[in-house]
Amino acid sequence: MYLRLSNGKEIPIETHKVRIVQKTSLVPIAERLRALEEGGYNTFSLRTRDIFIDMLTDSGTNAMSDNQLAAMMVSDDAYAGCESYYKLKAAVKDVLRFEYVLPVHQGRAAEHLLAKVYVKPGDVVPMNYHFTTTRAHFELAGGTVLEIFTDEALNTQSTNLFKGNLDIQKFKDAIKKFGAEKIPFIRMEATTNLLGGQPFSLENLKAVKEIAADHNIPLVFDGSLISENAYFIKQREKKYAKRSIQEIIWEMMELVDIFYLSGRKSSCVRGGFIATNNKKHFEALKPWLPVYEGFLTYGGMSTKEIEAMAVGLREMTDINVAGSAVEFVRYFAQRLIENKVPVVTPPGGLACHVDAKLFLPHVPQSEYTSGALAAAVYLASGVRSMERGTISCDRDKEGKEVYSDLELTRLAVPRRVYTMSQIEYVVDRVTWLHEHKDLVKGLRFVEEPPVLRFFFGKLEAISNWGTKLARVFRKEIGEY
Ligand code: F0G
Repeated sequence: MYLRLSNGKEIPIETHKVRIVQKTSLVPIAERLRALEEGGYNTFSLRTRDIFIDMLTDSGTNAMSDNQLAAMMVSDDAYAGCESYYKLKAAVKDVLRFEYVLPVHQGRAAEHLLAKVYVKPGDVVPMNYHFTTTRAHFELAGGTVLEIFTDEALNTQSTNLFKGNLDIQKFKDAIKKFGAEKIPFIRMEATTNLLGGQPFSLENLKAVKEIAADHNIPLVFDGSLISENAYFIKQREKKYAKRSIQEIIWEMMELVDIFYLSGRKSSCVRGGFIATNNKKHFEALKPWLPVYEGFLTYGGMSTKEIEAMAVGLREMTDINVAGSAVEFVRYFAQRLIENKVPVVTPPGGLACHVDAKLFLPHVPQSEYTSGALAAAVYLASGVRSMERGTISCDRDKEGKEVYSDLELTRLAVPRRVYTMSQIEYVVDRVTWLHEHKDLVKGLRFVEEPPVLRFFFGKLEAISNWGTKLARVFRKEIGEY
């Protein structure tokens, strides 16, 4: 929730109280430098004990509610026919209005099953934007991912409220060029993660559906960030200003043939599922579920998480839950903009995204601009962010570097986890870093995995800039 104070200033305000906490500590900069060097300048390699504020991701790191935790206590561990599954099924029916539900251990497992069943070599899968795991699975199945975003989507300094929209004309052109028979489905990702958490409008989703339906192309909806997209529709699409989050979700779901999500985001648990009203799709996917995930009624998820997910799905339709991260991201971005730090605008749904190309104009993409910035942010603050740029794009089949459209350093805001004073601390240190940006140079790989290299890749700082940055920090700010 956003609250206007009596002095006119607006602040995000929590509509919950904190009853369980996890201790964190800020280790001195010498320790941070050691951790960074040992971890190959890759923030995925850091350990929690070395991290002060963890903004790597909002995936699986959200605060659960008391009701979610309570539900976990009554889970049913039956291998087949467990009652927890039927509670999830009822929640999916109520909140999303789908009849058939296939639980999976997390979002990428849903993508794996969709790829396995629907994507054949030579197929083309259009989408408003890719996600890393999505692309990996669809390409491993022999398909090609075709991103058909609008021209505005890559403008990080924009006022366009729906940068997650699919370009309708480009979609029509793609059908003409490849033929509908080569397109197993069209994928729409709610609050496009890699574009900086940017939503699509309901008007756009309707237009996409109309064309897809004309050509018998199923609409697949990645709803990992569905409640945030619904929240943006309510805020930004006039026609829906008076509708509830639940009503907006229902209206979106009327258009969807196959729904899947990572339950680690909007529904604040760890797991995922595929859902549909089409028995044909359900029957096509079902046999593969026990092969790769687990029996239909748990699909690789802990039954405790299934219980919590059933509650989390209902809770995400509460406007204060749907907006909990969005409003903190808005405040976070606004404070950085005030301090002249280049961030993606409009602010998105899951994180404050710093535009690393603008932040470090002297570091070329070939030296991994946003990876270098993520490493520097950790060094200067103990805050862990994530590279969302060229390191997150694997090389092509010839081994050539694929330069990312955007070089973003993502400061994720897990739902209901961090407070305004912690955000202010991050703003302060990122601003300091921006004022000393010349100290930050590029990175180069020393160990490079062949797929999803951003997870385990090891890099080093070109001309040892980490040590120099630490020295200046200590002189100006101190050990911490
Ligand atoms: N789709 C979207 C839009 C996602 O953001 C993610 C994960 C997935 C699918 C895959 O789901 O992790 O449960 O297997 N996003 C995480 C992130 C990893 O950090 O943004 P998963």
